[in-house]
Amino acid sequence: MSDQPEQPGFETATSNREIRERWKLPADADAASMPLEKLNPGNGDWFERNKALGVFDRLRAEDPVHLTEDSQFGPYWSMTKYDDVKYVDTHQHLFSSDIMNGGIRLGGRPMAEPPDAMFHLPMFIMADQPVHDEQRKVVAPMFTPTRLAALGELIRQRAGDILDEVPRGESFNWVREVSVELTGRMLATLFDVPQEDRHLLIHWSDTVERIGDPDYFETPAEGFNEIWKCFEYFNEVWQTRKSASEPGEDLISFLAHGESTKNMSPNEFLGNVLLLIVGGNDTTRNSITGGVQALNMFPQEYDKLRDNPGLIPNMVPEIIRWQSPVAHMCRTAMEDVEIRGKQIKKWDKVAIWYASGNRDEERITDPNTLLIDRPHARQHLSFGYGIHRCLGNRLAEMQLMILWEEIMKRFSAVEVVGDAKYLNSSFIRGITDLPKRVIQRL
Ligand code: HEM
Repeated sequence: MSDQPEQPGFETATSNREIRERWKLPADADAASMPLEKLNPGNGDWFERNKALGVFDRLRAEDPVHLTEDSQFGPYWSMTKYDDVKYVDTHQHLFSSDIMNGGIRLGGRPMAEPPDAMFHLPMFIMADQPVHDEQRKVVAPMFTPTRLAALGELIRQRAGDILDEVPRGESFNWVREVSVELTGRMLATLFDVPQEDRHLLIHWSDTVERIGDPDYFETPAEGFNEIWKCFEYFNEVWQTRKSASEPGEDLISFLAHGESTKNMSPNEFLGNVLLLIVGGNDTTRNSITGGVQALNMFPQEYDKLRDNPGLIPNMVPEIIRWQSPVAHMCRTAMEDVEIRGKQIKKWDKVAIWYASGNRDEERITDPNTLLIDRPHARQHLSFGYGIHRCLGNRLAEMQLMILWEEIMKRFSAVEVVGDAKYLNSSFIRGITDLPKRVIQRL
């Protein structure tokens, strides 16, 4: 085939525990003093210890286009400055997302042939033009302003129901009770499947994120086994909606009847379903949780919000910048490219760190402060740029806005009353536990 380098594919039989243990950071690991060439921002331990932003501070200051030669993912470059992240994201002809070129995750490598079908899940976020554009067009109607307006009413009602049920005055896990609930209910609506099944959707989304996590799966193959149960579930829905005389107005019906998607292989169908589940789940969930955490860290901003709930539309993008729930995406260089004097070679893997670009002091004033009335708050990188810019960005913002409006109607405070626990992942910047207590508005 082409001039793709010979690279080992994704090692599906390797023990997740072995990899995690082998790359475990020492307990006292400190990004400020570690030899620069050893810095591996892709190590999920930095995120689990909530120290990743320190890694990026150092890289932006000392080595903004950084090569990690040795890592659990093989060698890769890191773009840590706002402008460089945007440059890579908007030059899709130089930097590919295609699954056969290595896709968007750190571990992916160019392949001459697709791997065993069980592990091969193409989806339009991992496709270049023209395939990407054709498939994105099929599901885009779900996110038009008219449809979003209709969904808004439903979200408001559900957000109200969820908030009315949380315990008053005592500690509870906000992630599970509020963030997961609201996003799960929304996903079931987008796919038009029974609300009781929302936990299955959340489970499959979590499974995608946990494929390499030894606390959940011994090997990635075990995780993939679980993921194919998602196919069994949605295959039935797919077949029914394919044969419906009147096409429905949900994501599966769009895929079943779309010109470029109606004849998809099972692998591509599952890939795209997973994209739509994962895309809307972890991201929104962590922006909801991260927002409450951030407001507790900056009480003066909380006061501003109480004095003027009209700030919510500006606060929401600021929270999404602050949290940067998708920490990075990856690309593969399709030509030799020089950035800031560094020579990136064709086929090199490049990580674009949204979480770092969003704290770049050259582009964001006082980036380590949450400012709910920040001017130009929507200028952040969290939704990406270019042809892959988040398709659900307006839906995500709307969910957060409505949730905060409903919170402010009911509670004078949502207090963090315990330590947060963070996800061991450098892809999703996630909070797994956050004990909270709500104070009823008098
Ligand atoms: C793509 C972030 C919510 C669906 C992306 C990308 C990012 C992102 C960084 C890749 C951009 C790039 O490569 O340039 C976020 C954040 C969210 C969020 C931070 C919430 C705060 C959602 C929601 C949905 C969704 C609610 C839908 C249910 C998608 C899809 C893509 C995508 C389908 C692929 C777009 C493409 O390849 O053309 N998102 N997302 N996202 N997102 Fe989101």
